[in-house]
Amino acid sequence: MGVYHIVGGKKLNGQLRIGGGKNAILPILASVILNGGISVIHNCPKISDTYVSIEMLKALGCGVNFEGDTLTVDSSKASTHEAPENLVREMRSSFIFLGGILAKFGKAKISYPGGCELGARPIDLHLMALRKLGATITEDHGFILCEANKLVGAEIHLDFPSVGATENVMLTAVFAEGATVISNAAREPEIEDLQKFLNSMGAKVTGAGTSHVVIKGVKKLHDAEHSVMPDRIVAGTFLTAAAITGGKIRLTAIEPEHLRPITSKLKEAGCSVRFEKNSVYLEAPPVIRPITILKTGPHPGFPTDMQAQLTALLTKANGVSMICETVFESRNRHIPELVRMGADITLSHSGSTSVIRGVERLKGAVVESKDLRGGAALILAGLAAEGSTTVRNSSHVERGYENIEKSLTDLGATITLVKDEDGVL
Ligand code: EPZ
Repeated sequence: MGVYHIVGGKKLNGQLRIGGGKNAILPILASVILNGGISVIHNCPKISDTYVSIEMLKALGCGVNFEGDTLTVDSSKASTHEAPENLVREMRSSFIFLGGILAKFGKAKISYPGGCELGARPIDLHLMALRKLGATITEDHGFILCEANKLVGAEIHLDFPSVGATENVMLTAVFAEGATVISNAAREPEIEDLQKFLNSMGAKVTGAGTSHVVIKGVKKLHDAEHSVMPDRIVAGTFLTAAAITGGKIRLTAIEPEHLRPITSKLKEAGCSVRFEKNSVYLEAPPVIRPITILKTGPHPGFPTDMQAQLTALLTKANGVSMICETVFESRNRHIPELVRMGADITLSHSGSTSVIRGVERLKGAVVESKDLRGGAALILAGLAAEGSTTVRNSSHVERGYENIEKSLTDLGATITLVKDEDGVL
């Protein structure tokens, strides 16, 4: 564990290159086991979730080498179908390994991922889909055992466009006999990146980015090389950091189309935003405008992973905003911490809607990061607050942001990370 110490009041100014996406690399690393050969993945973010995924691949018998931002995986000796429980508990999104292991070995054993700070995080859609593809699933003592003598293509409708369920089906169906059609598939850009990687190994996947994804089963896959798409949420977080501090920022190595759902809201809050080829330039307004109602939703809606950061921004708007979190049932644990910093936020009884009355200024405080994006939001609030802020439980933030304190310092912020190996901070 560690803590971020921030002295607020500095405008952020400067330029930052955005690295590879956490939510893109995780399903890609879950699929490298499929080709029984070499996968070379460039633009890999050095975040703790990447390292947990590397441990998972090693536990499955793969050889892994991480040099610079390139990960080379040799899955020719992958031998076990059991995902280590400690790793699944450490990173619930490692449930995405299920589909690849099942497709590779015809069986897979993985522990229940369990809930997290965002809510129950059910896996019913994943299990429904795998059953449709021919897997028998038994649940025993907190473990899920999937077995399939033969995986056969199927028509799978997702009641909710779940990102993880869409990805698990894509991986499970790669070798299935015949075609698998996913309707109401998730449309996130990370799904398109996964399709690109799978097809670079010789898979036959089409439709990613739409609600209709088709996977035609193939017999074998081969070596592949890929560069991970940029992290649109890290980009959105830094744009919001410039907005909340009244600064200016240019981000490079971004994909404009991925950022539009985010920049459209930052423009509504008064920011000026300009895209040039693969960069974006944002200038904060003198006064932040409220957003009457901001709803999160599946892509191309406003991303839930940016909700906490926009909540932080709107605490300083000159009026009243309302935010409706429609994707997760309790993505609001950053709100009491923002209130400790002087924000005026009322949370609905259900916890899914917040009313934010803008205040003149936030005041530095000691606050607790409860999850990845909530922690990032508290850092943003600290950057804008009067005086010093301490954000505890840095490990949440380190899951998805590579050296956020260094990047922010390079942009003019006063922030340090004090790591505490004994976990007493
Ligand atoms: C992915 O999580 C992302 N994680 C999340 O990012 C992101 O918030 C989420 O998609 C939505 O965009 C990764 O890609 C590693 P879902 P995932 O399945 O796949 C319900 C971050 O901060 N659901 O689309 O777990 C579920 O309860 C993280 O980077 C079911 O009901 O999200 C939730 O309400 C947080 N049954 C909704 O769908 C299921 O079987 C969205 O979940 C599966 C999901």
